[in-house]
Amino acid sequence: MSTGASQRAQRAQGDGGLSTVRAAAPTVGVLLAGAAERLAAAGLPTARPDAEWLLAAALGAERLQVVLDRARAVAAPTAARFEALVARRAAHEPLQHLLGYEDFHGVRLRVTPDVLVPRPETEALVAWALEVLASWPRPRIADVGTGSGAIACALANARPDAEVVAIDSSLAALEVARDNARRLGLARRVRVLAGDLLAPLAPRPAGGGLDLVIANLPYLPTGLLPSLPREVVAYEPRLALDGGGDGLRLVRRLVAEAPRVLRPGGAVLVEVGEDQAGAVASLLAAEGFVDVAARRDLAGVERHLGARRPTADAAARSSRSPGEGPARIAAPARYR
Ligand SMILES: C[S@@+](CC[C@H](N)C(=O)[O-])C[C@H]1O[C@@H](n2cnc3c(N)ncnc32)[C@H](O)[C@@H]1O
Repeated sequence: MSTGASQRAQRAQGDGGLSTVRAAAPTVGVLLAGAAERLAAAGLPTARPDAEWLLAAALGAERLQVVLDRARAVAAPTAARFEALVARRAAHEPLQHLLGYEDFHGVRLRVTPDVLVPRPETEALVAWALEVLASWPRPRIADVGTGSGAIACALANARPDAEVVAIDSSLAALEVARDNARRLGLARRVRVLAGDLLAPLAPRPAGGGLDLVIANLPYLPTGLLPSLPREVVAYEPRLALDGGGDGLRLVRRLVAEAPRVLRPGGAVLVEVGEDQAGAVASLLAAEGFVDVAARRDLAGVERHLGARRPTADAAARSSRSPGEGPARIAAPARYR
């Protein structure tokens, strides 16, 4: 190494000393190239962006800065922190566990191994919910199987007049959900409740007063779990994944329980697995729901199901101002 390079390296490390010749600090570009190679060799298809996210985290910088500033020298302690993160990612630990957060529909959520990492397809369920709720003032919502609180917090954030109960049977998950609601300034409107599905809500024989029951419950058939990527099966809670023999153990019970807590005209929206939409549509129809509809995710899978409790009940009309009827969930012919 030339003397000039050595001095530049020393300056970059911030010690400014000239008496000792040290190895040049690695640059962002060099660190990224090495890490991306290592992560690709570990079988990660997102090796390069993962390396960028992790280096940005180690530097306390934005990912874009890392992408743009390849020549930046990285001090030894930071490089060591980065190497440790890369080693964990190479062992297929989820990127979000290493970063400690995931961005979801406009909110940044803390994620830990106690909760499912919120998935991008679930953002489409939130978007559908916001469409359904658009004409309903002060909506009351239950997010069942809230995990990190992703759906509950995203809805409360997008609708400042909404009140949300966020339910989960995992106390560890609820701690994360509660913390997320607090960090986002939503704690007053996102009430966290422990229990099985809708059981924490007080029973009302004539039906409840919720406008929306929304849920991304575990829906994977138990037999499928061993075939999931290592990131998922080794690092995410089994309670968040296992939907029983056919995957519908919890969704089936939720559909049966939902009419008890929904007001007439209220809606239910659920996320389901591949090839489950038809079965869930039938369950909804069998429970008396109307306007059953499905929406596809970006991969073309019928991922989300929606339906409404019938409005025939006069209470629906009297509890709302005129012209303020429920948004119709358009049902594709297949599920009518
Ligand atoms: C697939 S994760 C979804 C988490 C979050 N809603 C999301 O979309 O990121 C399902 C969640 O349901 C919870 N869960 C599982 N069984 C439950 C039950 N019987 N009652 C309530 N929650 C349950 C799990 O603990 C987990 O947090």
